[in-house]
Amino acid sequence: MKSKPGIGLREFSRRREELMSMMGEDGIAILPGANLVARNSDVDYLFRQDSDFHYLTGFDEQEAVFVLIPGREHGEALLFCRERDPEQEQWHGKITGPERAMQLYGMDDAFPISDIDDILPGLIEGKSRLYYAMGHQQEFDARVINWVNSIASSQHKGTQPPGEFVQLGHLVHELRLFKSKQEVEVMKFAAAITGDAHRRIMREAEPGMYEYELEAELNHAFLRGGARSPAYPSIFGSGNNANILHYIENDDVMKSGELVLVDAGAEYQCYAADVTRTFPVNGKFSKAQKEIYNIVLAAQEAAIEMVKPGNHWNQPHEAVVRIICQGLLDLNLLEGTLDTIIENETYKKFYMHRTGHWLGLDVHDVGEYRIDEEWRVFEPGMVTTIEPGIYISQDLAGVPSRYRGIGIRIEDNVLVTKTGHEVLTSGIPKTIEEIEKTMASKAA
Ligand code: GLY
Ligand code: MN
Ligand code: MN
Repeated sequence: MKSKPGIGLREFSRRREELMSMMGEDGIAILPGANLVARNSDVDYLFRQDSDFHYLTGFDEQEAVFVLIPGREHGEALLFCRERDPEQEQWHGKITGPERAMQLYGMDDAFPISDIDDILPGLIEGKSRLYYAMGHQQEFDARVINWVNSIASSQHKGTQPPGEFVQLGHLVHELRLFKSKQEVEVMKFAAAITGDAHRRIMREAEPGMYEYELEAELNHAFLRGGARSPAYPSIFGSGNNANILHYIENDDVMKSGELVLVDAGAEYQCYAADVTRTFPVNGKFSKAQKEIYNIVLAAQEAAIEMVKPGNHWNQPHEAVVRIICQGLLDLNLLEGTLDTIIENETYKKFYMHRTGHWLGLDVHDVGEYRIDEEWRVFEPGMVTTIEPGIYISQDLAGVPSRYRGIGIRIEDNVLVTKTGHEVLTSGIPKTIEEIEKTMASKAA
């Protein structure tokens, strides 16, 4: 069994310290965890903790509220959670309970969630700023407003509710944008599971299989690797389905001569990988497929080179657009000059999305892309995807038939380092030679 990385208690505590230093001593932060969501009678969706809540606590149970009070004498990090209950635990599994939450999650204090209405108003009282993500959970919003109002209408002389309300997300998301060493190790583990899965499906793919049969091979590798679920619904688009950007039906038969675009990443300890590879169902790229593939590959490699401290967020995208436009011009799929095509955005019928997004606890992770209207500059610890593509729909008029129905995307996950970048998803077959070799290794 491989040793598995994780986020230690000290790191969760460090995150809370950093948040508190941003909040100042007259603030209080309140953060409810995710709710369990019903799927149908007696069945719920698999519980997934809210990413901000997980980031600050590591506590992955439902019905929990985290409260942070910088400078509070009797403890700064507080958790409200379910009490232990042997009968409930026999039906639904273990409950940590307040006592063990302090010990196992490094909380300064913990209380039964059923006591929150009695305790929280007293904690809010006297604080001048309340940090809370208003608008995410309507029912909880109403409770927060009630607690604040109850202070305002209190009989106690001199009690004051907070005068200032601040969106907690702004602060937490800025912290989440910069990944620590431990986070990078966890993300590399998610990437490694994802790489094993992509290699497995390249070896297993065969004409005549349903797309979901290939998805089953991927899920097998995810679970075997320790990822309970994908980080997002996997895309298995063969043939023209690859041109539907968010295709997730995955129920077509994959035919010889077609490509299959697979966008799938594992979630490990709540951290996402997000990888796309496109390969020929029969193991060999056609000439037309190679022509398009190598444009996307060149664009992706050039974009990855642009990921380094000092460069700004949009530089990888700009590099991609130039290379894709030049490539499509060379194949006579676009007309005009490079500059006019870029200016008029006529390339968008072939490449209509952006080149990447931040990656972390969320697949489309938090963090600003611009600061004061300017593109954000890359700094060490940021992780972005780089994912250019060319999509030539079957129905696209004016395109030679040999190119129609080809949809290609190549996606990797890239960490900004002090000196440049590190591709977290390196080693997953990507060149035509690597992919064909991997696919041919099936029989061996
Ligand atoms: N898999 C979602 C994305 O690539 O953005
Ligand atoms: Mn993706
Ligand atoms: Mn992506």
